[in-house]
Amino acid sequence: MPHSLSPILERPAVAKARAPRPLTVAIVGATGAVGAELIACLERRDFPVGELRLLASTRSAGRTLMFQGAPVTVQALDEASFAGVDVAFFSAGASLSRRYGPIAVAAGAWVVDNSSAFRMDAATPLVVPEVNAWRLGEAPGRLVANPNCVAAIAAVVLAPLHARRLIVRLVGSTYQAASGAGAAAMAELRDSTAAALAGEAYPPQVLAHPYAFNLFSHDAEIDPETGYNGEELKVMAELRKLLAAPDLPASFTCIRVPVLRAHAMALTVRFAEPVSVEEARAWLSEAPGVRVVDDREANHFPMPGEASGADDVLVGRIRTDLSDPSGRSLSLFIAGDQLLKGAALNAVQIAETLVRAGEF
Ligand code: A2P
Repeated sequence: MPHSLSPILERPAVAKARAPRPLTVAIVGATGAVGAELIACLERRDFPVGELRLLASTRSAGRTLMFQGAPVTVQALDEASFAGVDVAFFSAGASLSRRYGPIAVAAGAWVVDNSSAFRMDAATPLVVPEVNAWRLGEAPGRLVANPNCVAAIAAVVLAPLHARRLIVRLVGSTYQAASGAGAAAMAELRDSTAAALAGEAYPPQVLAHPYAFNLFSHDAEIDPETGYNGEELKVMAELRKLLAAPDLPASFTCIRVPVLRAHAMALTVRFAEPVSVEEARAWLSEAPGVRVVDDREANHFPMPGEASGADDVLVGRIRTDLSDPSGRSLSLFIAGDQLLKGAALNAVQIAETLVRAGEF
């Protein structure tokens, strides 16, 4: 892929991708929460789909899902699923990506993997098109990793700041929605809330703790050495990779909150040089994929309810961090749709980037 293409890719959310021929597109995990959004994104963004192959477990084989007004039958994933496929989106967990991703690549497909399986492999590009589309030109094989949802949403906001003033320290706390744990967790939030309102017992089934009117630490396993959980470590490592800042000191606390599908996070960012609130607001206002929602008078700032269903990541509460008298630190509050920019939308934007770069 020619590297010179990166300038035309700066606003991936805007232009429609045109391919010289209709593409055969596979979705692994088509019946899941992200799978549903992938189907919707392909349709609404008019991705050049000739054939859509919907893949899931044998439990779902034979079910139909709608695409462009017509039913498409779900097929059971197997080793022959990728014959003739141009682009395969994987969203069925890391072990299935590890097993079937290389099979899809060997069959000639570009794989956009939404799992954590390959994200930190040195040779695998980890891509948010607004941030580092040019990395696709470095892909040694046809495999691209889609970042963790928190990392993707945060990177869209941090990259335009980092491009102007080097970020030298990052501290974040997240408020993560049910969708990050899949469709079953979203159902558990609805059902356990209904049960709580009806005064009925609801033993947790998907998540480890009662979800209605509660919040808890992300359930990823705790690293005994550092005390950070797996989600926090992933976010920190992936943000370093996305921002091309391998030594960036970062610390995150990841919390699951009773919200259906949009993550929020509070970030405190230290820069190598002072940055004013006005500068940051101006840079973020013109950044692709970002919408500044920062109305102090109306007390109107990013909210998961407004971020849900939106392609843009919302940012506000932009203020100087008073705990750093050097004027080099800002605090921000962000909300972004976990299923869209945190997963399906970003994956489809990666595929659009490949289409525009002439990969098909
Ligand atoms: P299925 O619905 O047939 O179980 P979510 O993250 O929302 O829980 O979705 C997970 C997705 O991964 C679903 O589409 C699910 O399909 C799919 N999946 C889970 N296990 C397998 C498997 N062994 N083979 C193929 N797809 C699978």
